Amino acid sequence: MHVKSASNDYPIHPHLKERWSPRAFDNRFIEPEKIRSLFEAARWSPSAGNIQPWYFILGLKGTETFENITKTLDEFNLLWAPRVPMLFITVASKVNSNGDYNHTALYDLGQSIAHLTFQAMEEGLYVHQMSGFYPEIAKTLFDIPENYEPVTVVAVGYMGRADTLHPRMAKGEVKPRERRKASESVFSGKFNMPSSIF
Ligand SMILES: Cc1cc2nc3c(=O)[nH]c(=O)nc-3n(C[C@H](O)[C@H](O)[C@H](O)COP(=O)(O)O)c2cc1C
Repeated sequence: MHVKSASNDYPIHPHLKERWSPRAFDNRFIEPEKIRSLFEAARWSPSAGNIQPWYFILGLKGTETFENITKTLDEFNLLWAPRVPMLFITVASKVNSNGDYNHTALYDLGQSIAHLTFQAMEEGLYVHQMSGFYPEIAKTLFDIPENYEPVTVVAVGYMGRADTLHPRMAKGEVKPRERRKASESVFSGKFNMPSSIF
């Protein structure tokens, strides 16, 4: 099994250092209590006005929901994601209770997945998020109502062996994680002016 660590410039929590997005997952099932903890972590994420615009359609391998989620995947993700033990679709509620557009719905949904991902590391699980899927197919298959938007498909499981992957994915599985420097993202004064803290 391949473990990728962040080559961080400054100290970070071990779960953030060791987290990465594998495509090779073990076919071992995930204990239900761990699954509950993942969504509990998502549940306690903050959101604008405490609207909690996040919804999830959970598919465990072997169920019809899981099969239907695989039908939403694009050609690339179909090469690996159907082998994971758990997939779920994230859905954002786009309007608040007054019917007004909630412009932070995607932000809040993403943050709930960040919390879930951190909890996954605590449980010894890995998470791989995907935008490569067809939301329209998801809307039809799962009767997702108007004003609700399927945003990503998320794979969760125990890490597996890279040599079980389709050849197209083999290199990426062992490639070091890369990021631009924090000084290229954190500005002060004007956009693009690096903060003196770095
Ligand atoms: C919103 C989102 C969409 C992504 N979509 C895909 C995808 O469709 N297929 C895939 O294999 N990886 C996908 N990824 C994984 C990213 O490629 C990966 O997170 C990025 O390369 C950084 O690697 P790391 O997570 O291992 O640090 C996605 C990640 C995010 C957050």
